[in-house]
Amino acid sequence: MTSFDKNNFQKETMTGQGMTIRFRAYRNLCYVAAPADEKYQTMNIYVPEAYYHGQAVGMYTAASAPVFMPNTVGGYMPGLPEEPGVNRHTNKLNAVFEALARGYVVAAPGARGRGLTDGKGSYTGNAPACIVDLKAAVRYLRHISEDLPGDMEKIITNGTSAGGALSALMGATGNSADYEPYLKALGAADERDDIFAASCYCPITNLDHADMAYEWMYHNQHDFHRMIFQMTDEGPERRAYDGMMTEEQIEDSREVRKLFPGYLNGLELKGGDGRRLSLDENGDGSFKEYVKSFVTASARKAAENGEDLTGEEYSWISWKEGVPCDIDFDRYTAYAGRMKAALAFDSMEMNTPENELFGNEKIQYRHFSEYSAMKDVRENTLAESLIIKMMNPMNYIDNEKARTAQFWRIRHGAVDRDTSLAVPVILAAKLREQGCDVDFALPWGYGHAGDYDLEELFLWVDRICG
Ligand code: DHB
Repeated sequence: MTSFDKNNFQKETMTGQGMTIRFRAYRNLCYVAAPADEKYQTMNIYVPEAYYHGQAVGMYTAASAPVFMPNTVGGYMPGLPEEPGVNRHTNKLNAVFEALARGYVVAAPGARGRGLTDGKGSYTGNAPACIVDLKAAVRYLRHISEDLPGDMEKIITNGTSAGGALSALMGATGNSADYEPYLKALGAADERDDIFAASCYCPITNLDHADMAYEWMYHNQHDFHRMIFQMTDEGPERRAYDGMMTEEQIEDSREVRKLFPGYLNGLELKGGDGRRLSLDENGDGSFKEYVKSFVTASARKAAENGEDLTGEEYSWISWKEGVPCDIDFDRYTAYAGRMKAALAFDSMEMNTPENELFGNEKIQYRHFSEYSAMKDVRENTLAESLIIKMMNPMNYIDNEKARTAQFWRIRHGAVDRDTSLAVPVILAAKLREQGCDVDFALPWGYGHAGDYDLEELFLWVDRICG
């Protein structure tokens, strides 16, 4: 663990898009005493320079500044600490730059992920490494808080996709004893790891129920369409990868789809009006209407903002007095299109990012859902139930032994097909039911992406911190 020296910093100035930020950078801080991976178990901390001169930035001071904690995990692979700069997806200033400009302290941790090895043939980044690392980083922040501006009771995590799932786990699982043995083994600081708020873009979460949720939604589509990255002589290239599901995959789709109503009904969720959210055995019912209502709301907002939704491609939208009032769910899912063949997450081919996430030291890929493990004729292919539990925020939201964050912002693009819409809808509903303040929406026109609305994200942060 790096012993924090507040005088050991780089003073930096950065200009972008007409804006200049001045900050102190503390880089490569190892946040555990017994690191398993010195490259990824490190954090960079950036602090607005003004706080060392008794000045305020916007609505904050050195004592009140929120601590913004973005992770860079994608695909459940390892992620390095983020730097201020330009977001290569949006071509705009990135979240670290924008957060510093607004007076937040930024704590940017790295985290281990699937695929890492120790050089001796053992895998070191499988579950729960990524979430344990982020918790250790929060504990380190509290450990050094005397020497650091920022309010450690205002830690706000942010991430996209697998990183969004980790942000949700950070929000849900504060101080849970389940993670303690792993934190102890790494020599994490003896501090709390609960956080104030979680910002989650398209969280690829609830993995042990993601296949049934996906087939509930996409069972009518047997053709799949995705982009894959391939290395060519000219560098990485995006290429369309389309195909038809095999008979066996269609059979798996049919079988896991049947499991979803039982899971959903067992959650005993309620919608905004207090009505039970349920599904019949065909997958129809109030939960489906509830999911549809978020797509309809997204279309309504887009129409209000002047988007032309009258084209034939949007004929799945119903209108009333010039306002979108409903959608045809099956035609909407056909419009969005299936991205992944069944089983989308816990594949029988055992080759998804999630199968690798649930591997162990010696076995690279394992199952994490009952259906796939039962069907697989090989032995010892299922991950331990405690590890599966520890990777799903749903297990901690109503768990009295975990401190769940009060504030949540969840975004999932209205045409993001990486996971079922049911996944973020269930997460948001469960949080609301437990009294959390949840800002949830499906932004129109967005697929699988994050950090595309930083202005709104930081208005939300200012609102919850104000
Ligand atoms: C990510 C995307 C996926 O489709 C998935 O299954 C897991 C992770 C990602 O972009 O992080």
